[in-house]
Amino acid sequence: MTRAGRPRESPRRTAPDDAGPAAPALPAAAPALTAASPALPATPVPASAALMPSAAAPFETADLTALDQLATMVAVADADGRCRFANAALEDRTGVARRALQRGRVSELLTEPRALADTLRAVGAAEVACSRFDAVLQRAPAFGPGHTELPVHVIVSQTDWPGCVMVEMIEIEQQTRADREERAIGQAQAGKELLRNLAHEIKNPLGGIRGAAQLLEMELGDRALAEYTRVIVHEADRLHALVDRLLAPQRRAQVVGDVNIHEICERVRALVLAEFPRGLRIVRDYDVSIPEFRGDREQLIQAVLNVVRNATQALAEPGAPPHGGRLARGDAEIVLRTRIARQLTVGRQRYRLALELHVQDNGPGVPEAIRERIFVPLVSGREGGSGLGLTLAQTFVQQHLGTIECDSAPGRTVFRILIPLP
Ligand SMILES: Nc1ncnc2c1ncn2[C@@H]1O[C@H](COP(=O)(O)OP(=O)(O)OP(=O)(O)O)[C@@H](O)[C@H]1O
Ligand SMILES: [Mg+2]
Repeated sequence: MTRAGRPRESPRRTAPDDAGPAAPALPAAAPALTAASPALPATPVPASAALMPSAAAPFETADLTALDQLATMVAVADADGRCRFANAALEDRTGVARRALQRGRVSELLTEPRALADTLRAVGAAEVACSRFDAVLQRAPAFGPGHTELPVHVIVSQTDWPGCVMVEMIEIEQQTRADREERAIGQAQAGKELLRNLAHEIKNPLGGIRGAAQLLEMELGDRALAEYTRVIVHEADRLHALVDRLLAPQRRAQVVGDVNIHEICERVRALVLAEFPRGLRIVRDYDVSIPEFRGDREQLIQAVLNVVRNATQALAEPGAPPHGGRLARGDAEIVLRTRIARQLTVGRQRYRLALELHVQDNGPGVPEAIRERIFVPLVSGREGGSGLGLTLAQTFVQQHLGTIECDSAPGRTVFRILIPLP
């Protein structure tokens, strides 16, 4: 089924300087891309306009290298559709060399070239300033069967160069993922703020409650009643510790040094095996060529430990075979897998190189009811769980510009920790 649809058009741009002043080359990439989101109201201004050199420079001498930093595929074409520039993302996603792209027509990259050819003509003739539609990009056969077609959202807009039109293509899956990540980050941020305020509000009276209970205990004639004041003190201490954990990520500044991901994995492996000496196998599948990177070792140990500990706790839970109660049966397995990822997109930022650490377990999987919310503070599916482990892990990894993703099904749960490499 094709996803090509009727182009949505924006009114023609009237003032030539609608796009505003040309922005500096970089790092305007992220905000510029945000403007391209189809979820936002259609804008007559091309999303990548912020990265475009000033119209004063003729196209032939313009420096378009900043467009190579974008995760979005970008081409500049003439009104007849001949490709005059293709960025690195377009080259990557189509598997066609830039030179070859620049010899052809942009519309021929789509399974149904007609819609794009018509749109290029309309935008080139300034009948409309911007037009958007969904289409399918045809990729090189080298991507293998089932992978040669890529659904994309296409945005065609005017440029300030006479006769030149800009075509942006955003992978629909990547777009949805980026939107989801952005929403999750926004929600987590709001949640954290709320928690921080709440934590302070709880902490202040706790000291008073604890002190009053201790004074009361000294005054009590009946020793048996002291049992009650001890409960108050104990519970106040427990709440205090919880609040300290809530505030932990803000409390300590990052300590940056050279970090070796395998050293971190080994450390976590040793800690978890000491805690669960029987019934658990932790398999290492390391790519030892992964270079060291700058980061906060202690934070990352904590992040990986939280993820691995969750896996172990899920494996330890009693439950129906084949995936429940594995630890007791002795066939619980966690795999720590490291790999290098190329051309990775986190949020709207694209990284040339990143490390991936997969923590995979063969347990029952994340309960379906909380699967979408496990990174939200205080969400727990575990008896006695405080629901903070993954929130902290995500915060620590985000401080390294990375992210954690989860893919879970009974018998196979994978947490992917992604961290950009220099
Ligand atoms: N590997 C896993 N398999 C199954 N469920 C998991 C896995 N990892 C996480 N979960 C689910 O996600 C929930 C949230 O995890 P999180 O670490 O944030 O909190 P917690 O483990 O409940 O409490 P704590 O703050 O002590 O870590 C868990 O309670 C569990 O239900
Ligand atoms: Mg946990």
